[in-house]
Amino acid sequence: MEQRIVNVKALGEAANALVAGDKGLLAMDESTPTCNKRFAAAGIPQTEEARRRYRELIVTTPGLGKCINGAILYDETIRQRTRDGIPFVKILADAGIIPGIKVDLGAKDMAGHPGEKITEGLDGLRLRLQDYFKIGARFAKWRAVIALGQGIPSGACIEANAQALARYAALCQECGIVPVVEPEVLMDGEHSLRHCQETTERVLHGVFEQLYVQGVILEGMILKPNMVLPGLQCAKQESAEEIAEATLTCLLRTVPAAVPGIAFLSGGQSGELASARLNAMNATSNAFQLRRPWALAFSFARAIQQPALEIWRGQEANAVAAQKALYHRANCNRSARRGEYGAAMEAA
Ligand code: G3H
Repeated sequence: MEQRIVNVKALGEAANALVAGDKGLLAMDESTPTCNKRFAAAGIPQTEEARRRYRELIVTTPGLGKCINGAILYDETIRQRTRDGIPFVKILADAGIIPGIKVDLGAKDMAGHPGEKITEGLDGLRLRLQDYFKIGARFAKWRAVIALGQGIPSGACIEANAQALARYAALCQECGIVPVVEPEVLMDGEHSLRHCQETTERVLHGVFEQLYVQGVILEGMILKPNMVLPGLQCAKQESAEEIAEATLTCLLRTVPAAVPGIAFLSGGQSGELASARLNAMNATSNAFQLRRPWALAFSFARAIQQPALEIWRGQEANAVAAQKALYHRANCNRSARRGEYGAAMEAA
């Protein structure tokens, strides 16, 4: 088995390209079961052809490259083509969008730890990464899921997931692929903003310790964390500014300055809330602005796609309107990166 020497400079440049300017990442890497679940909720047939048509709609959205630096694909999608036979990877590259790939195999129940998950997919990963590189992927994603509740997350769950993330990241870098490292503390629950902040801090400390232990080059990776948020069922829902303060406090305490960029997941927030909160983090009025060393970008799936999916509903006649809705959300997040997003953009 050939093991390559990591090209630190090239990885650093590739990582910076993912968060360059005021653009972000589009996550369109739903696994087949997740995509089918969202299709079922929107009354769309759960077939491979319906999934292909939907992903074609996304990658051919006019102007998408003005807002998006990279798109995360799924194994099925990275091999698909438009109805005219053009590989999605080429459509994206021609639009100036870097193709990426989700490589984890999902979060599974963790033995001996009820209510907690461990993400699987390390076996055979080197070969899969080499294959994806040949197809055109230049970055990858691995998601760890951390639930917050009574007595959880456990130290065991944080450590096992952090180690898997770090081993994945090291393998990616060996293959010349930028790892997007995604430890997600879930929004579900009654927990407070402070509780989420403390837990996210614990998780990120664990992740960066393991990244160090495994020799991951911080300059050649992107962190994809949750925003620090109150639980969905918590009675007190703080303002975007308070959420920005809690999130940035947490990140400044845990994420080394060598990391070029942080690209948040949306985690089930509405498109408008995700944009408003990202905006608050990038607003010039934010006192943390001058202290943060990394780009603060987005890597949203639902917060960009959901309105488009609901408009499309599997009907060709709705495709153009769906593409406009997708572009709108991507463009709102582009404005949020500049701290220029506001309610007026939604009204327009
Ligand atoms: O792994 C999760 C996705 O890449 C981001 O999805 O923005 O809907 O949370 P989300």
